[in-house]
Amino acid sequence: MSAANRSDKLWAGRFTAPTDAFVEAFTASVEFDNRMYRQDISGSIAHARMLAHVGVLSSAEMDAIVSGLEAIRDEIERGEFQWSVALEDVHMNIEARLTALIGVAGKKLHTGRSRNDQVATDMRLYLRDEIDVIAAELLRLQRALLGVAEREATTIMPGFTHLQVAQPITFGHHMMAWFEMLCRDRERLLDCRKRVNRMPLGAAALAGTSYPIDRAYTAELLGFEGISENSLDAVSDRDFIIEFNAVAALIMTHLSRFSEELIIWASAQFDFIELSDSFCTGSSIMPQKKNPDVPELVRGKSGRVNGNLIALLTLMKGQPLAYNKDNQEDKEPLFDSVDTLRGSLRVFADMIPEMTLKHDNMLDAARQGFSTATDLADYLVRNGVPFRDAHEVVGKAVRYGVENSKDLAEMSLEELAQFSDAIARDVFEVLTLEGSVAARDHIGGTAPAQVIAAIKRAREKLA
Ligand code: ARG
Repeated sequence: MSAANRSDKLWAGRFTAPTDAFVEAFTASVEFDNRMYRQDISGSIAHARMLAHVGVLSSAEMDAIVSGLEAIRDEIERGEFQWSVALEDVHMNIEARLTALIGVAGKKLHTGRSRNDQVATDMRLYLRDEIDVIAAELLRLQRALLGVAEREATTIMPGFTHLQVAQPITFGHHMMAWFEMLCRDRERLLDCRKRVNRMPLGAAALAGTSYPIDRAYTAELLGFEGISENSLDAVSDRDFIIEFNAVAALIMTHLSRFSEELIIWASAQFDFIELSDSFCTGSSIMPQKKNPDVPELVRGKSGRVNGNLIALLTLMKGQPLAYNKDNQEDKEPLFDSVDTLRGSLRVFADMIPEMTLKHDNMLDAARQGFSTATDLADYLVRNGVPFRDAHEVVGKAVRYGVENSKDLAEMSLEELAQFSDAIARDVFEVLTLEGSVAARDHIGGTAPAQVIAAIKRAREKLA
């Protein structure tokens, strides 16, 4: 970044004293908003085309502007563009360079426009592009989960409530629970995109413009689905950023919960999975360690996205209409949330297919903790015992099991029958883990057949 003197400033006409050097840096946004250069240029090209379309610019002026802006885009992409802090932001940097390149026509680009509607437009175009990338990453992670679910549709693991063994489930079913969470996330993201994809351009500073602009024409060129209906709202609205960040916070919350499960499963105490070496690191002092860094970092990063959401809500809550410089503070939280979310989804989509399952350990764990106790109660109910009485009977059998260190399936028929005469030899069919999961055979249940059917429905939905 370079500095420049007062006369370089595009708004310096009414000023006599130069900006204080620290204030210049303090008020500038170019160091972070230059990431929107592509959107800024596309917005300006569309604006120039519209101005020519309605006769405000000549077609020669428009041609000069368009090729000048394209040349600037190339300069930026080649890393040759000189960004200047004195020129404050991405908009004025590009406009000043345009005038330097093409002369007086460059000075006409800003006709009928303000940085207020320009920046709101850039933010929407930028976020629209990022939403498409994020939605694709979400989809990639969803497909990864479907792959694991299919491979592990019959794999038995303990299901938990209160992190205590509850009932046996299939690993495929567990993966499909994550899948469902991400389905809702993608739905929310695509719904939010509709409100992102509306064009504020034409609102100018706040009241609209006296030029005969054709907003629908510009919107069409930029692929906006609609235009904002009120100029004051157009330049001051940042709801779309807050909404996106709320969606991002919820996705990160989901990834954080997945992370927590992976970390627990990878611990020596659970030992259900092994994460691939490429997603873990060692310890500089303890040679035996293999730490699940990626899930831990993702869990930690959910905090910053939540923080960004609060920052954005707080940014807006005190603002009168219309544009205020406060709004410049919307960028860093948004960019940080976008980067964090993109990175976290990417690493998850890469990591999930690479994890190895320890089937025997999961099976052993499912055998502990009387995970088929509910199956025994259901068996008694089928044999005529009212559910509350059955619950009591099984409770007693479990107490006996705890005292004698035996799971239900390890007890003899005689031992079990002492708790109820409704218990016969066929009880052992329901006390097996396979029998227990297979019995939960309805939509949403954990039976392998239902998991396979759920995967099929999911694939059709994603196709
Ligand atoms: N850098 C500014 C922002 O991010 C651009 C808009 C400036 N508008 C103004 N009236 N000062 O919001």
